Amino acid sequence: MDDDQLPLAGKNILLGVTGGIAAYKAAGLASRLKQMGANLDVVMTRNATEFIAPLTFQTLVKSQVFVDMWAPVRVWEVEHVAMADRCHLALIAPATANIIGKIAGGIADDMLSTVIMAINLRCPVVIAPAMNVNMYENPIVQANIAKLTGLGYRFVEPDIGRLAEGYEGKGRFPKDETIVAEVQTALGLRG
Ligand SMILES: Cc1cc2nc3c(=O)[nH]c(=O)nc-3n(C[C@H](O)[C@H](O)[C@H](O)COP(=O)(O)O)c2cc1C
Repeated sequence: MDDDQLPLAGKNILLGVTGGIAAYKAAGLASRLKQMGANLDVVMTRNATEFIAPLTFQTLVKSQVFVDMWAPVRVWEVEHVAMADRCHLALIAPATANIIGKIAGGIADDMLSTVIMAINLRCPVVIAPAMNVNMYENPIVQANIAKLTGLGYRFVEPDIGRLAEGYEGKGRFPKDETIVAEVQTALGLRG
């Protein structure tokens, strides 16, 4: 199949990776989106880099990975604004309780939260939370999700099952195919 016939050909997707135990699973997701033809910009929080190295994503998506707002630039652009302007969809996977709270609270204190602020919902923003069941069920997290849903942010529900700490419950990172299906729906590529 020619590259321009791939399901996500020509789509610029910003993948935000935050500091949860599922951060390593975002590498498989990035690889899958790339193989489907998407152009990926990967933005990691500083905490995400404790779980998986930027080099992993850099190698898989074959472009620079952004962590630091203050890193020297190769080409002069205000990078968070340029990324916000060029993306057709932003996907935060996995999304921590923290990033959900920051977006809901209007906080823009690192590269990822600043890009999401700059996107200003001009394109779909899909959020895939993954966390401990007690964090997920915390009324503050649920209120933040409800607020963002009301504003038009899209959420992929976490799976139920065994969590990293040994708990059973809701909070597992969803399967790649569930997230990809939501991405395609949000882009208007499937019914
Ligand atoms: C071992 C470990 C695992 C963690 N897993 C999660 C997680 O799955 N989900 C979550 O919301 N926070 C998790 N945290 C807490 C976040 O790392 C913490 O809230 C951090 O401030 C998130 O920062 P970020 O949103 O900027 O990436 C974990 C922390 C540690 C030390």
